[in-house]
Amino acid sequence: MEFILASNWKTGIDDYNEAIKWIKNVSFFVKNNDFKLRKARVIAAVPYPFLGLNTDFDLEIFSQNLSHVGRGAYTGEVTINMLKSMKIKGSIVGHSERRHIFAETNELINKKVLLLQENEMDIILCIGETLEEKRSGQAYKVLYSQVTEALKGFHKFENLIIAYEPVWAIGTGIPISIEDLKEMESFIRDVFKKDYRIENIRLLYGGSVNKDFVNEIKENTTINGVLVGSASWKSEEFIKIIENFVN
Ligand code: PGA
Repeated sequence: MEFILASNWKTGIDDYNEAIKWIKNVSFFVKNNDFKLRKARVIAAVPYPFLGLNTDFDLEIFSQNLSHVGRGAYTGEVTINMLKSMKIKGSIVGHSERRHIFAETNELINKKVLLLQENEMDIILCIGETLEEKRSGQAYKVLYSQVTEALKGFHKFENLIIAYEPVWAIGTGIPISIEDLKEMESFIRDVFKKDYRIENIRLLYGGSVNKDFVNEIKENTTINGVLVGSASWKSEEFIKIIENFVN
């Protein structure tokens, strides 16, 4: 099974020198543990200004977002070609903070997914229900429409990673229970089997992941890895998370 350990910096690392130090520490770790990590991908999704930071080739730099518009008069936007021409491997799309703070819709997310597909870049598509949706029994419906609407016209599944991130678990310090995670995993995997004939979609969990919770995920589920926010902002902590998942 392929393991994927992804750090989502958000704006949690917002200092250039701190960014360089983090990249150096994690690259060094990844390089020196290559034998253990052969089956694992380590990804850092960094803010736009840090996309050009030099990294060991084993540590993949992803964008956290991209614009749906292309070359032209769009002040302040970051286009797919800016990312591609800088050899960025992929991008997170549809993170709940983009959906809820910046009002991104499934339709907009679909445009970004298709741009990434056209350019043969990797996609971490985030999906997840809010607490209200969970309480009112809407979670499966919401996840289903987030998947199917974002993936209209999409077929390059070898470039796709799904990150299941329940909104109510993000940044709260309390991850989902393992029982609930198992249920959600089987629901999401079934959607891909039935609707797309994909047997083993790459699936990550995100939402208050810490070094202890990754042990539980590994022991109890077949989830491929984690998308980690605040617990990954200190490189030493992220390294512990990687070690726990991979060992
Ligand atoms: P968190 O964020 O680990 O800080 O909860 C995860 C995410 O939003 O990707």
